[in-house]
Formats: sequence, C-alpha cells, structure tokens
Amino acid sequence: ATTLGASAAQTGRYFGTAVAANKLSDSTYVGILNREFTMVTAENEMKIDATEPNQNQFSYGNADRIVSHAKAQGMRVRGHTLAWHSQQPGWMQNMEGSALRSAMLNHVTQVATHYKGQLYAWDVVNEAFADGSSGARRDSNLQRSGNDWIEAAFRAARAADPAVKLCYNDYNTDDWSHAKTQAVYRMVQDFKSRGVPIDCVGLQSHFNPQSPVPSNYQTTLSSFAALGVDVQITELDIEGSGSAQAANYQRVVSACLAVARCNGITVWGIRDTDSWRASGTPLLFDGSGNKKAAYTSTLNAL
Ligand code: XIL
Repeated sequence: ATTLGASAAQTGRYFGTAVAANKLSDSTYVGILNREFTMVTAENEMKIDATEPNQNQFSYGNADRIVSHAKAQGMRVRGHTLAWHSQQPGWMQNMEGSALRSAMLNHVTQVATHYKGQLYAWDVVNEAFADGSSGARRDSNLQRSGNDWIEAAFRAARAADPAVKLCYNDYNTDDWSHAKTQAVYRMVQDFKSRGVPIDCVGLQSHFNPQSPVPSNYQTTLSSFAALGVDVQITELDIEGSGSAQAANYQRVVSACLAVARCNGITVWGIRDTDSWRASGTPLLFDGSGNKKAAYTSTLNAL
C-alpha cells in the first residue's frame, strides 16, 4: 500500500498521529492527515485543563472539532488523557486528599460519558511512575490522594463507557531492563490478577540520543502483551535525520509488527515543525510536508 494507514491496515493495525485543533485550517497539514493516518490523538485538547478549565464546567469545543474531523474521514480516536499530574487546571493543582479524589473521579466520569461510544481507547492514566531506579510511583497530588487512585480511575472510566479500551500510558517504559518499565509491568499484572479493568498499555516512545530505541524494545512489547493486554506505541518521535533516523523508525515498526498484540502506532505530530520538541526534526514529514527518509523506511516496514 502507498500510505501509512493503508499499509498498517494490511496487518490489522492502525497508524495514527497527534492532531492540534488549531491546525485543522492548515491545508498542507490536513492534506497529509487525511491521506496517511487512520487514528488521531488530540495533542492537548482532551487534557484536564482543556476539558474542565473551571471545576464542574466542561469545555469540549476543540476536542469535539478533532473528533468530528476524524469521524468524517473514517479515522478512529484515542482519548488523551483523563488523569495526569501535568496540565491540570489551576483549581485542581490546588486540591488534595479526598476532595481531589472526588474531583478526579468526577472528571473521569463526566469526560468519559461525554465521549461514550465515540472513542477507540482512553489513556485513562498518564505518566504515574517515577523516573530513575526506584520503580516507585511519581509523587503528585493524585498519588498523595491514595495509592489506589489509578485503579479508581480505571473503574470509573469503565463504568462511564463500557466499550472503550482503557489504557495506561507512560514514557521511559521502552527498555525492558528499566525499573520504571518493570514497575508498570507489575501494576498491569496486579490489575489483571485482581480484575481491575485494563485493556492496553501505551508506550509513548519519545526517543533521542540520550534515550535511544532500546535493543530489547520488542521484548518489552511482547512481555506486556503476554499479560493479556494490547500494546500500542502512542507518541512516537525519534530525534535525528537521514538514514540513521530512518533505521530507528524501521526498528520500532518492525518490533511492533513482530508482536501480535502491538496493534497500532501513533506518531506525535505530522511535520517536524508540528513537533512539541522545540528544535529538532523527530517526525516523518519535513516542515514543508515532504516525506522524509524516515517516512519511507516506516512505510516499507509496515
Ligand atoms: C505535549 C504536547 O505535545 C505539547 O503541545 C504540550 O505543550 C505539552 O504536552 N507526554 C504526553 C503528551 O503524554 O501529552 C505530551 O504532549 C508529550 C509528553
């Protein structure tokens, strides 16, 4: 096939991108989006600060624009994200304890209900584990509200939308030997053993020279999958250029295709100029929308 989405579909997978609502009027951007991709994630528009800017006042305009565009193009949507320590609105940043717990669960319930039946998956919880060698939870107001906040969020999401896939999403969870990866693995194992609803694990997979594609990446994907969850690469970008970058994209795609339950890949933006990385060229299209070598290696690996 001649597009990322159609090539991924040949093996039953999707190929997605992060989308920013304010770029849906950019014809170059939308042209590539509509041609190449079969899944979209709202880059910021479904985050807590965007959807509940004031407590109990919900705001879905930009998020709904992305969902409408995706639906009109026959693309599916990954919701991102219901509970996270970052991009909290000011009112939530100032909350703690049982009041925060109630507010968080209300947010999960309200937003998941708004999108009930419309999304492929939700990143229910994002980035809840600490970096480094501790394997501990990340300190945050949500974590301090009680260690069971993650499972409480998953249960609330399931109650609100029984059909959507419920995912845990994180970064620096690509290297199987990393303490953070092992800690997330044990949480998923625990959830599965106790019947806490969880359907998928997202690996953000933001790679750069300090954090390259690990040699055991496929082992990480297959190990999570063996717990009985789907695995998705949710925010892929790889710093670099030319043939070295192309080879790294090829390695990531090949690892996913080698694991039956790795059923989708999403890149975190379309053109290099759309990337959240202030400088650098981590994506598949250059600033003018031309296909890079990394695009070709990705397409050929699918
Ligand atoms: C980033 C967005 O791309 C930026 O526009 C925003 O300023 C900050 O957040 N992990 C995630 C994403 O889960 O939500 C982040 O997105 C990138 C890191």
